[in-house]
Amino acid sequence: MDFARFPLAHLPTPLEPMAGLTELLDGPSIYIKRDDCTGLGFGGNKTRKLEFLIGAALEADEDVVITFGALQSNHVRQTAAACASAGLECHAILVRQVPNDTETYQRSGNVLLDDLFGAVIHPVDSDDAAGAKLVELLEAIQGEGRKAAIHPPGGSTAIGTLGYVQAGIELAMDIEALELSPAAICHATSTGGTQAGLLVGLAIAGCEVPVIGYDVYKGDAAKVTDTVYGLVEEVRSLLDDPPAMSRDAVIVKDGVIGPGYGLLTDEVREVLVLCARYDGLLLDPVYSGKAMGGMIADIRAGVYSGDQDVIFLHTGGAPGLFAYQDSLEN
Ligand SMILES: Cc1ncc(COP(=O)(O)O)c(C=O)c1O
Repeated sequence: MDFARFPLAHLPTPLEPMAGLTELLDGPSIYIKRDDCTGLGFGGNKTRKLEFLIGAALEADEDVVITFGALQSNHVRQTAAACASAGLECHAILVRQVPNDTETYQRSGNVLLDDLFGAVIHPVDSDDAAGAKLVELLEAIQGEGRKAAIHPPGGSTAIGTLGYVQAGIELAMDIEALELSPAAICHATSTGGTQAGLLVGLAIAGCEVPVIGYDVYKGDAAKVTDTVYGLVEEVRSLLDDPPAMSRDAVIVKDGVIGPGYGLLTDEVREVLVLCARYDGLLLDPVYSGKAMGGMIADIRAGVYSGDQDVIFLHTGGAPGLFAYQDSLEN
């Protein structure tokens, strides 16, 4: 692949056994791909996307990055860190979409880190207000003779998705090195770039393991499938001779989101505690915790047998734990 890339990530990330959870559930052998250890601003899946997004911004001589997310967006925190590292100005338009008025949700976790990284935060109450803020910022930046890159929520453009194409190739090599034959690779999906890139990267590497995205954002698996497949097509169009991929390869499962995006459930609380106490591992309440809940439910339902392996892709998000302190204590 010949695309501009700004180095940000500690790669390859480890693929390691989750011995505690495997023993507890008495089902398949569970492995975890540690993309929470990508190393930028507490790590997470956005680092891989940002290597390509920031690379493209620098190549285009852009001075400013404008991006979007929920108030406790991990993508925004990592973008703020990436911009600091690359010497770019970062503006984050944060939509107050999760009904949580606690002091910790409003000020701690990712919001605190965005500020430490020097991002300019613009909180708004709706998508319409976010659009209006974008227009206002662009006018001001362009009026000063500067250029801005606009990164959508989750950094899920075709360019950002390239980060997960590379991750899919890396994971295929890990699987080969550990001599695994996984029944599935499971992870949280929302804006779709992670799943789309993984699918394409694994296919390039000739690794035919099904990828299961648990929808933690929309509560509508069909819509998320469309988004992921759209990104598969877009990223394929950037590559020379990419392998063919049908829409059937995109597997999105729902049923893990609970009452809504960013809202805590008893199930996710249980999962956070299980992973922390049996494997010393921190997941997050919004993405990886809910997706792990889906995978555990599938294991408990007997979807995988004891002689199979399953891989969970840890996409990060643990700084969000501090935002939910009030609901997680005790
Ligand atoms: C911790 C975490 N996991 C998973 C995801 C989902 O990744 P994607 O937006 O590429 O579907 C996100 C971001 O949206 C995230 O912050």
